Amino acid sequence: MAKKKAAGRSRKASKKAAPKRAQQVTTTAEIESVLREQRVFEASEEFKKRAHLSSFTKLKRLRREAEKDPVAFWERQAEALDWFRKWDRAFEWKYPFVRWFIGGQLNASYQCLDRHITTWRRNKAAIVWEGEPGDQRILTYDALYNEVNKFANVLKSLGIKRRDVVAIYMGMVPEAVIAMLACARIGATHNVVFGGFSAEALRERINDSKAKLVITQDAAWRRGNEVRLKDAVDEALKKAPTVKNVIVYRRTGTEINMKMGRDHWWHELMEGASPVCKPERLSSEHPLFILYTSGSTGKPKGVLHTTGGYMTQVTYTTKMVFDLHDDDLYWCTADIGWVTGHSYIVYGPLANGATVLMYEGAPNYPAPDRFWDIVERHRVTIFYTAPTAIRAFMRWGESYPRKHDLSSLRLLGTVGEPINPEAWMWYYTVIGGKRCPIVDTWWQTETGAIMISPLPGATPLKPGSATLPLPGILADVVRSDGTSCKANEGGYLVVKHPWPSMFRTLFGDPKRYKEVYWSKFPPTKDRNGYYFTGDGARKDEDGYFWIMGRIDDVVNVSGHRLGTAEVESALVSHPSVAEAAVVARPDEIKGNALVAFVVLKAGVKETEKLRQELREHVGKEIGPIAKPDEIRFTDALPKTRSGKIMRRLLREIVTSGVIRGDITTLEDKAVIERLRQQLGEES
Ligand code: WTA
Repeated sequence: MAKKKAAGRSRKASKKAAPKRAQQVTTTAEIESVLREQRVFEASEEFKKRAHLSSFTKLKRLRREAEKDPVAFWERQAEALDWFRKWDRAFEWKYPFVRWFIGGQLNASYQCLDRHITTWRRNKAAIVWEGEPGDQRILTYDALYNEVNKFANVLKSLGIKRRDVVAIYMGMVPEAVIAMLACARIGATHNVVFGGFSAEALRERINDSKAKLVITQDAAWRRGNEVRLKDAVDEALKKAPTVKNVIVYRRTGTEINMKMGRDHWWHELMEGASPVCKPERLSSEHPLFILYTSGSTGKPKGVLHTTGGYMTQVTYTTKMVFDLHDDDLYWCTADIGWVTGHSYIVYGPLANGATVLMYEGAPNYPAPDRFWDIVERHRVTIFYTAPTAIRAFMRWGESYPRKHDLSSLRLLGTVGEPINPEAWMWYYTVIGGKRCPIVDTWWQTETGAIMISPLPGATPLKPGSATLPLPGILADVVRSDGTSCKANEGGYLVVKHPWPSMFRTLFGDPKRYKEVYWSKFPPTKDRNGYYFTGDGARKDEDGYFWIMGRIDDVVNVSGHRLGTAEVESALVSHPSVAEAAVVARPDEIKGNALVAFVVLKAGVKETEKLRQELREHVGKEIGPIAKPDEIRFTDALPKTRSGKIMRRLLREIVTSGVIRGDITTLEDKAVIERLRQQLGEES
């Protein structure tokens, strides 16, 4: 097995202060952990005074109790929702399929809207929106309620019913939220596709989910340019037979093509819509949304979430992890097209009656201080972003945040990748003024809601650690035989008991669901099956979790999880390419950079022009985020005897130039030699 060299992340201070610790960091054959970080930060007394939970002792007690009976713990949290009918049974587990709050009836849009408009929150701002050009809108809960009711009636008028799938391909405008909540209101299942994806990727997601309707906009503003979303929809729909209607929201006013009978303007449909649409009474397991995420084979996975369990956990975690209070102005910078946007812009915050800031555009438009300008002008109190963004802010320099008064901030959060301690300290010092706790939240599209995270008033923080699983979440780090790792031993991150916001299956593919997530640690006579997250991790001597990233062939580029296989299939779809293998190498800014090894078809010349063309081609097939940073032409790829590309070896070549791992399964050893030589020539 590969033994990777220590990546040199260990801090001088910690080496001196605790020489013993270094020895404790053990290596398994599987994953090696090299990060050591000793600093601990506590929330201030002032922060604790207001916090929903302010004592670590209490948190530990709560975790112990919930561990003994997680179902009872989650039942108590479910009581915070407004159910039309209470559940008969809280939990049913038929490996690997789970159901929560069986027999219960509710509606997600009711949680987010109806239950607030009968209280003082009716006139509270739900969404404070800022467009990239600087235009602003504020929607109160009452206004949002009206828009959602009307739009729900619009959907009905186009024949959309319970369980129909509606694709949403939009930028960051309030109408995206309105569209999602309107689907939830009538029991349609939304499939939001990130607006940065290409027409090709959109078409695949529409067809796989059998969407009947697409909601889009003419174009979106991004870094001063128009991203022409409607054009991409037109292209996608050339081969998407299930789609009958398209609703187009006018955002930029650009000229677009409207196809008679199929395409309708949002504003025209809304004009005649009735303002009252009763929320459907939906069963707890009613499908709320499908969200596609990259898998390690070419085809994206349709992660399916249902209503009762999902709403329970997003509501609880938003309140506790972000220590949300009614006077907060909460800003999550994620895009609505990712799960973070679903759970922590829309469902969690609105279910809690929060005021959510939503920003349309790029963080560096018109200048690299745009985010800090927004924080200052709107007096944002809670700010949740990704490590890749933090690393970009660091590169742009302190002068940009320093120009602004950021004293309104009281809590910071991160999600999406491991945050390195240096970035954590920068975030803590420069953005948080050493005043704001940082919640490093570990979770996934599949988990639906936050799983491992500090509770900011209670948990002492260690830079780079997501700290402890939340109460009711039974996470662990195990070896391949399923036994728990020792302190500081690297292993597989698993969850041992199903949780409410767990995805229920992969849409249309329960077999793959079982294979990908539940076959690595199947049930045995002494234990239940474990959910395998795909991440490597270690627990330190305090039980704190340190996430080490993906261990399969999915890579995280700028916070986006990409399947290298998808990039490979895009490359291979180019007429000049015979074969391709894509691996990641660590990159200071993006987290990972993609390196593509490309074998050209016989007779095709290796030119700079072709390199560019291939990058553009991937951009068109998948989206700009997937463009390889580097393309290396080669005459063969290292493969196993059964024909599987050994990406592990390529990864070692691009990260260290040296291969230490086992190459006994390699078919043609000369290939590696040639790749290595080629590397020498290039560098
Ligand atoms: C990674 C995003 C370290 C991890 C919500 C996970 C993290 C994948 C963290 C899920 C974190 C997410 N620390 N790694 N705090 N949060 N990850 O599905 O590898 O886009 O498996 O969901 O991101 O990415 P996804």
